[in-house]
Amino acid sequence: MTQDDPLLTVENLHTSFHTDDGTVNAVDGVDFTVRRGETVCLVGESGSGKTVACESITQLFKRPPGEITAGSIVFDGIELTNCSERELTDIRGARISHVFQNPQNALNPVYTIGWQLLEAIELHQDVSRAAARAEAVELLDRVGISEASDRLEAYPHELSGGMKQRVMIAMALACQPDLLIADEPTTALDVTIQAQILRLLKDLQAEYGIGILFVTHDLGVVAEIADRVVVLYAGKVMERGTVYDVFETPCHPYTRALLDCLPGRGSLGGIPGSLPDPMAPPAGCRFHDRCPDAVPDCSTGDQPAFESVVGEDHEVSCLHYRTAAEPTVLESGVEPRRPSERTDGGDTHD
Ligand SMILES: Nc1ncnc2c1ncn2[C@@H]1O[C@H](COP(=O)(O)OP(=O)(O)O)[C@@H](O)[C@H]1O
Ligand code: SF4
Ligand SMILES: [Mg+2]
Repeated sequence: MTQDDPLLTVENLHTSFHTDDGTVNAVDGVDFTVRRGETVCLVGESGSGKTVACESITQLFKRPPGEITAGSIVFDGIELTNCSERELTDIRGARISHVFQNPQNALNPVYTIGWQLLEAIELHQDVSRAAARAEAVELLDRVGISEASDRLEAYPHELSGGMKQRVMIAMALACQPDLLIADEPTTALDVTIQAQILRLLKDLQAEYGIGILFVTHDLGVVAEIADRVVVLYAGKVMERGTVYDVFETPCHPYTRALLDCLPGRGSLGGIPGSLPDPMAPPAGCRFHDRCPDAVPDCSTGDQPAFESVVGEDHEVSCLHYRTAAEPTVLESGVEPRRPSERTDGGDTHD
């Protein structure tokens, strides 16, 4: 393990839920990495597998029905899929922190904020009560909570949604994690608070050098916070690359459709159609029944293999980018918009 190795490497991850109605392959062969000090965003519509991918890292879901059926998750040299529950509990909180979408469920209503923060600090650091209290005040202050020492006495219900989310972030940072996994942490908040929290995360990241895996369905948020982007659809990665490449030269029709949904980009009301049945995903490319560029070959075989496109580690899973595209695809009459051929500029850094 060298300093240059990714902090987190997820390879060929398959996570399923065995239900009475059948098996849901929620994450179906997903790869991504997170380096120290960078923010990687998982993006995709609701139901694409973002939360399950995050929960797989420290196996937060109930097992059964959930199960990692294949793949590897290496965190700082440790293969997490081989860890016992006890080892995972030690890593969770101590080295990998989670911030969830709904702080309501993550804070205990019967204890004060201070009690919960001190508990998190004392669990992971060998410090005196007074030092832990001073750190709790400092953390609340860092996450932008005014009159922090008074707030320690508050119960969760006495705080606004934005405040509770800040407390959650303070608790997630209390153990000084190497990796912060934030699953739609700002979705329930108004845009002003959301912007403050995104800035706060970037500031704290710059200060502590933590890696952040950030989940959102909102590409506007991605533009604010991401270094690299992984676009998920129906449990599979469609495209990945730096935020610059993916926004400037989106290659996958699904990525382009998501970008078209940004305010001012023309597509109101979302992408027509819906995700396939997770218990019976279609053959071929998972996006084919919603794809404006689909050709007959798109609905046979497997999800297209990744192809490199212009940019650093920029890859796309779409038949139109196959380096050795077969005649049926090339003669189909569909004009794939390869990065070099795009004319609309795709400037979405707004
Ligand atoms: N506990 C569960 N049991 C059965 N299916 C689940 C469970 N959790 C998630 N799923 C399914 O896995 C898929 C991915 O869900 P999720 O990761 O929550 O999507 P996202 O976070 O992208 O909105 C969905 O089809 C969802 O219904
Ligand atoms: S492989 Fe076919 S269906 Fe899938 S994104 Fe490309 S053109 Fe569309
Ligand atoms: Mg989710």
